[in-house]
Amino acid sequence: MSVLTSPVVPPKNATTGDLQITNVTKSFGAFTAVDDLTLTVPQGSFFALLGASGCGKTTTLRMVAGLEEPTTGQITLGGKDITRLRPYNRPVNTVFQSYALFPHMSVADNVGFGLKQRKTPRKEIGVKVAEMLDLVQLGSLASRRPAQLSGGQQQRVALARALINHPQVLLLDEPLGALDLKLRRQMQIELKRIQTEVGITFVHVTHDQEEAMTMADTVAVMNAGKIEQLGSPTEIYEFPATVFVANFLGQSNLLTSACSGTSGDDVLVEAYGSRFAVPRDRSRVTAGPAFLGVRPEKLHLVESALQVPDGHNAVPGVITDSSYVGVSTQYLVSAPWGEELSIFAPNSGTSSPLRPGANVVVHWHPQHSFLLAGAGAVASQGAPETAAPDGGSLL
Ligand SMILES: Nc1ncnc2c1ncn2[C@@H]1O[C@H](COP(=O)(O)OP(=O)(O)O)[C@@H](O)[C@H]1O
Ligand SMILES: [Mg+2]
Repeated sequence: MSVLTSPVVPPKNATTGDLQITNVTKSFGAFTAVDDLTLTVPQGSFFALLGASGCGKTTTLRMVAGLEEPTTGQITLGGKDITRLRPYNRPVNTVFQSYALFPHMSVADNVGFGLKQRKTPRKEIGVKVAEMLDLVQLGSLASRRPAQLSGGQQQRVALARALINHPQVLLLDEPLGALDLKLRRQMQIELKRIQTEVGITFVHVTHDQEEAMTMADTVAVMNAGKIEQLGSPTEIYEFPATVFVANFLGQSNLLTSACSGTSGDDVLVEAYGSRFAVPRDRSRVTAGPAFLGVRPEKLHLVESALQVPDGHNAVPGVITDSSYVGVSTQYLVSAPWGEELSIFAPNSGTSSPLRPGANVVVHWHPQHSFLLAGAGAVASQGAPETAAPDGGSLL
């Protein structure tokens, strides 16, 4: 019988070019920068890796680009193992925060540089460069030098240069970090438009939660070399999986509580002698210590308990602070047990602002809360701890 010599057996779903990172760990000496990371980036998606500085985002991108070798684990693209391929043999390009443009070359020459290196016919280069400059809306500036462009325009040139040879995956490492806020917001919308137009997989690294949520189909929240939660922006904001995510992505009020049973489709929790309901499908735990979470904009303020709608959870309190921030007024309300709740009330012009010192009732629809495992819940031994989660505002 003859031996099969086919070097690569195409995977069953050979048409998909998903980027797959499987059990990848990267250690620098005794320090683990990326810790047993497993994730799939679907082909053609806009994927954001979101996390604080030092959590391992750049290291992850560098391993995908081939600039760093995983200590253990595997990286595949469309089913093909690329873990140990040289960077230039991967169908992957990177855009960095520093644009790294050639200062002595025109915009058009910068964009066409890679094609020229590969001895592409001049006419073809001209056509492709024009196409790319149109894509990034810089057609009229083709003959300028980088120094004659704004930061945002330079970043568009870098983008055009990275896309001209149609990589399968474009890696973007905090590409908008050097731009001022207004320009950054414009470029976020622009990047999303470009990604939709070219259909190339974008893996975008950022520490800016709003940036990740604005652009990405899927956001992976990274913490200390691991993924804490992965999902659509709505999923991770509305139903965070962990205390870290609840606090990293926007603000959360987190009430230290304990599950006391269930009733129909609800989990019942007790906190400071009060009982609250959380829908079961919004609960990460049904027993033991828990954190009852509610976003500040999901809380409502009324002046009397009679105004609380049926079925809502309610906490009485006193307004301790009120700050007008234009689109909303942000209140702090002190609950009877002394903890403060943060509430964002939209300034829609339908009600007059409440003053510090006023007695109020804070209420929320159970569907707008979520229940997370409390401190010590995972270990499931000993008495529930009541330590405050880092950075969270406690009810
Ligand atoms: N070449 C290296 N040698 C030693 N430590 C490194 C090296 N590269 C990165 N690190 C460390 O790994 C951690 C993750 O770094 P990095 O991936 O750059 O984080 P991020 O991009 O999320 O800010 C940091 O603590 C950083 O100091
Ligand atoms: Mg980085």
